[in-house]
Amino acid sequence: MTLDEFTIYQTRQFPNATGELSTLLRDIGLACKFINKQVNKAGLADILGAHGAVNVQGEEQMKLDVYSNEVLINVLRNSSECAGIASEENDHFVAFDDIHSVNSKYVVMFDPLDGSSNIDVNASIGTIFCIYKRKSALGQPCTEEDFLQKGKNLMAAGYVIYGSSTMLVYATRLGVNGFTLEPSVGEFCLSHKDMKCPENGKVYSINQGNTCKYDDKLKSFLEYCMEEDKESGRPFSHRYIGSMVADLHRTLIKGGLFMYPADSKNPNGKLRLIYECNPMSYIIEMAGGIGSTGTQPVLEVTPTELHMRVPIFIGSKKMVEKALSLIQ
Ligand code: AHG
Ligand code: MN
Ligand code: MN
Repeated sequence: MTLDEFTIYQTRQFPNATGELSTLLRDIGLACKFINKQVNKAGLADILGAHGAVNVQGEEQMKLDVYSNEVLINVLRNSSECAGIASEENDHFVAFDDIHSVNSKYVVMFDPLDGSSNIDVNASIGTIFCIYKRKSALGQPCTEEDFLQKGKNLMAAGYVIYGSSTMLVYATRLGVNGFTLEPSVGEFCLSHKDMKCPENGKVYSINQGNTCKYDDKLKSFLEYCMEEDKESGRPFSHRYIGSMVADLHRTLIKGGLFMYPADSKNPNGKLRLIYECNPMSYIIEMAGGIGSTGTQPVLEVTPTELHMRVPIFIGSKKMVEKALSLIQ
């Protein structure tokens, strides 16, 4: 079953559904097929390496960051279902002001290329996106309030992982489903139906190099992860790819706990709420897991600005609960 067939099938379950969300998802899937094409030949095309500029985060932009961002913006501008976008690579949100877009119901936020530091070393990278129904009135350009909604108001969220296979994972309140790209046909085909995050796991995932900057409670939790305890399966395995999409795709499928906590240098951690922590928490929670900032559910955080960061503890329900009990 292709992505289109699946979303049409799902739409049929809602008599008053208009199929706009399905169209929007198809457009995002199209953009990611273009990105996938560049990712797969990155070593050959002149698409590797630095773009020679820094983004609003002060991070050096890779050529693939810029390419992916432009493809997503152009495809969504041409879509009849998107009023505007916010992106990791743009200082401000972009309101599309053509007659179709101002009458569109949805806005999209995305991290066009997640895990940029892994591009040149051929490790898995991804694209993260999420979709809200706009709060501003139709018929006029979307406004900033459309982009500062809590994650719990999301209509849908998903990611594409450009790995040994290219997969699109898409979550709505109906559940989480995975589609693998069949390159010879150019279609995402349903391969992982109704994905569930295992309630427990044996893998913890964190940039251990930051330990010297963590507070004592977090340090004691990391000690707990490394202690011998047959009953709980410890010591756990440690896996850290350095691409949030890849680390969380493993967590969704095999279970585990991914953490990017605050530290003495980064009081709110590193990962951005709007286009990394909210979409990934929505997906993991729709699959039965938990996404927490360490003090509250990620999806409950009130966004105050587009590029705000939050600490994140996310993955298997029991592992997140254990972590929170020790660090709080
Ligand atoms: P991006 O490439 O979009 O900036 O995201 C990179 C993020 C995330 O993908 C990953 O989990 C994290 O950076 C890794 O950070 P460290 O290298 O500091 O561990
Ligand atoms: Mn990212
Ligand atoms: Mn990015």
